[in-house]
Amino acid sequence: MAIQDSTIDAIPIAFLDVFFGTGGLPSLNLANSCNPTDNATFAGSELPNCSALAADIQTCQAAGKIVTLSLGGATGANGFTSDAQAQTFADQIWDLFLGGNGTTRPFGAAVLDGVDLDIEGGSSTGYAAFVTQIRSHATGASKPYYVTGAPQCPFPDAYLGSVIDAVGFDALYVQFYNNYCGVNNYGTPSDWDFGLWDSWAKTSPNPDIKIYIGAPASTSAATSGYVDAATLGSIATATAANYTSFGGIMLWDASQAAGGLICNVCIVYHH
Ligand SMILES: *[C@@H]1O[C@H](CO)[C@@H](O)[C@H](O)[C@H]1NC(C)=O
Ligand SMILES: *[C@@H]1O[C@H](CO)[C@@H](O)[C@H](O)[C@H]1NC(C)=O
Ligand SMILES: *[C@@H]1O[C@H](CO)[C@@H](O)[C@H](O)[C@H]1NC(C)=O
Ligand SMILES: *[C@@H]1O[C@H](CO)[C@@H](O)[C@H](O)[C@H]1NC(C)=O
Repeated sequence: MAIQDSTIDAIPIAFLDVFFGTGGLPSLNLANSCNPTDNATFAGSELPNCSALAADIQTCQAAGKIVTLSLGGATGANGFTSDAQAQTFADQIWDLFLGGNGTTRPFGAAVLDGVDLDIEGGSSTGYAAFVTQIRSHATGASKPYYVTGAPQCPFPDAYLGSVIDAVGFDALYVQFYNNYCGVNNYGTPSDWDFGLWDSWAKTSPNPDIKIYIGAPASTSAATSGYVDAATLGSIATATAANYTSFGGIMLWDASQAAGGLICNVCIVYHH
């Protein structure tokens, strides 16, 4: 599967896994693509210089794809102690990766299209303030910026539940894997809970929010939840027909994807 695939609409780059690192800068671990061990870092920090990826990011953007930065991840040890700290961090993310004018730019000339929150530890403190501050920078900017989240499928999500109730997100890439509510249990109505997410969506701060079915891109990409492409395709078709909030399919992750893509509207995390 090539990342240039025309069925891919958005690519969250995963992950910004350290919020508060050495030298007052965050850090990135993009697995084989760029990480602080194999790649040069900005002086006095553990933030890798991933500017070699700038041209690829800009090529994807020129093809109409949204390229965002995903914060957190399963191994991320992160979080905020206050709303004020979260707002300051949002200012820093804006300057490093988005429309800000910082001089430290880990993706060189590329201006990413937004942020994704994949928060799987710590607490919910500050995330709503973080999103609000990113939105405030984005208001009046020269292009749109997107805020998405990747909650796990049990509803409500332990970390993002109160955050998505408080501030509007553009889309949620719900992780329907590694859990009882995974796509592999689609046939068990008491487990498969897309309907709960759909009901929530309609009364959430952004009632137009789109909910994506997040699924493993390969058998090795998750502990459980993998279904083959044909099965996932038919689940997506049935879900699209039944729930107006359905946005498409998210696959975790591109670096492990095997075989063809089955997405009509597809989000692929790239690690
Ligand atoms: C990061 O380092 C790896 C290993 O040396 C290399 O293959 C990769 O191209 C580097 N990435 C960037 C963005 O410089
Ligand atoms: C980051 O790497 C690029 C080459 O990939 C280089 O031109 C640039 O000077 C580096 N930036 C810093 C701050 O070291
Ligand atoms: C960066 O942008 C801020 C806010 O717009 C502005 O106050 C500041 O002067 C700019 N800095 C540079 C170096 O352009
Ligand atoms: C359609 O939605 C209803 C209400 O949530 C649910 O009971 C039913 O199982 C859904 N059917 C499909 C195919 O998703």
